[in-house]
Amino acid sequence: MNNLYDKYFNKPSIRDARKRRSTDTPRFSYQPQSHLGALGAGKTYLIQTYGCQGNEADTETMQGILHEMGFSPVHEPSKADLIVLNTCAIRANAENRVFGEIGRLKQFKRHNPDLLLAVAGCMPQEESVVEKLLKSYPYVDLIFGTHNIHKLPYYLESAILSKERVIEVFSEEGAIIENLPKARDHAYKAWVNIMYGCDEFCTYCIVPYTRGKERSRAPEDVLEEIRALASEGYREVTLLGQNVNAYGRDFNDRDYTFAHLLADLRDVPIDRVRFTTSHPKDLDEATILVLAQGGNLMPHIHLPVQSGSDAVLKKMNRHYTREVFLQCVDTIRTHIPDASLTTDLIVGFPTETDADFEATLDLVKTVGFEGAFTFIFSPRDGTPAAQYVDDVPAEVKKTRLQTLNQAINAGYLAGHKRFEGQTVKVLVDGQSKSDPTILAGYTPHNKLVNFSGLAELKGQIVDVKITEAKTWFLKGTVI
Ligand code: SAH
Ligand code: SF4
Ligand code: F3S
Repeated sequence: MNNLYDKYFNKPSIRDARKRRSTDTPRFSYQPQSHLGALGAGKTYLIQTYGCQGNEADTETMQGILHEMGFSPVHEPSKADLIVLNTCAIRANAENRVFGEIGRLKQFKRHNPDLLLAVAGCMPQEESVVEKLLKSYPYVDLIFGTHNIHKLPYYLESAILSKERVIEVFSEEGAIIENLPKARDHAYKAWVNIMYGCDEFCTYCIVPYTRGKERSRAPEDVLEEIRALASEGYREVTLLGQNVNAYGRDFNDRDYTFAHLLADLRDVPIDRVRFTTSHPKDLDEATILVLAQGGNLMPHIHLPVQSGSDAVLKKMNRHYTREVFLQCVDTIRTHIPDASLTTDLIVGFPTETDADFEATLDLVKTVGFEGAFTFIFSPRDGTPAAQYVDDVPAEVKKTRLQTLNQAINAGYLAGHKRFEGQTVKVLVDGQSKSDPTILAGYTPHNKLVNFSGLAELKGQIVDVKITEAKTWFLKGTVI
């Protein structure tokens, strides 16, 4: 639909975003728009990224496209000709932060009337957000979603050359686009999408609506990307998917699962392979057995449990019970005794009683998670849980979160303590911001280590003897 003012005008629909058909995923290869190559020459851009690693990976794609068009990066909004907010819709407070930022950025348009302001990512996939942007933030020039990043050159062409506002968001199941350019933020560690979207429909979660259906990249493409990264000097990759354990479930031409992918990756000359996120209902023994073979597969599993109460898990549509979760942890511990486990937890889900919360607390202590992201339930428009009666008082939610965080912090400390006196391999990220003589990096178990050392160790994997465990990091000395 076109209107008089806007070049592209296509708004999202949560109803359409829910649809899933059994048709094959369209797959195509990105074609650089060489005729648009000069459009960004002499122009600058700034991208602010919110949300998960999936969004960070998308930002790297946007950067790749912008560099192809001649744009160069800047760090201050006052110096930018284009500002993109790559947004997250997971909780209301994430969205409020973005709306606050859009308001703050308005001043820079007064100073630079040619400044283009774009809102991208998961928030524009929501009807209510686009309505609000159109009504209350008319100075936003460009709105696009998660399914059409590859069209960014065309949108910029419209916005720059014809000074037209561009609003284009597709509520579709989504395609797979290979060969997108990428300008990565890190020189040694890379995100690698192995799949997109999500078909789990946990009742609280907006992601299946903002990201489309679960669809897996071909293993050849994933392996080729990682081989190329290794030959460019990358030491670590993190495989990304909302439920990596569902990888390959959508292939109808072969039987190839996440376990197969991990097994194949053991033969790729990259030092470290991590992955996120695992789903307890799909993390199978075959995968755990491959992980147990070690090598470049890192012994850390992020396994979101969300709640320790069967009643709440059922209402969340998580498809496992506390018992099944504990069995899964048992299988991990049997085959990989020293694995580090971290999780995500939601408190204050509708109907959560004190007893349900106690069950969560008890589970956290039983499993001995060594870290967690903890959240208060946030109702999201269009999701089933937004219709549930939000019957837990705000004060109770806050208290539960604090109590839970205390238990989680004890887990962080215990997870660090077990490495005191040991020598661990640390991939050096770089210097600490506050003290350039201090280096920081991560161990195979994903523990942050601070130690004295010279900057040239950056990007190397060094042996560090752990001298002291703190709640948030380890201290050590290079040996
Ligand atoms: N696909 C991953 C991560 C999804 S988003 C997974 O399944 O684990 C990251 C975390 O945000 C979730 O694990 C959940 O704990 C939290 N989350 C998602 N929706 C939420 C909501 N509506 N309110 C509060 N927390 C939420
Ligand atoms: Fe959301 Fe559940 Fe999918 Fe994770 S698995 S992205 S929590 S719907
Ligand atoms: Fe947020 Fe979208 Fe990721 S909602 S958590 S940025 S998939």
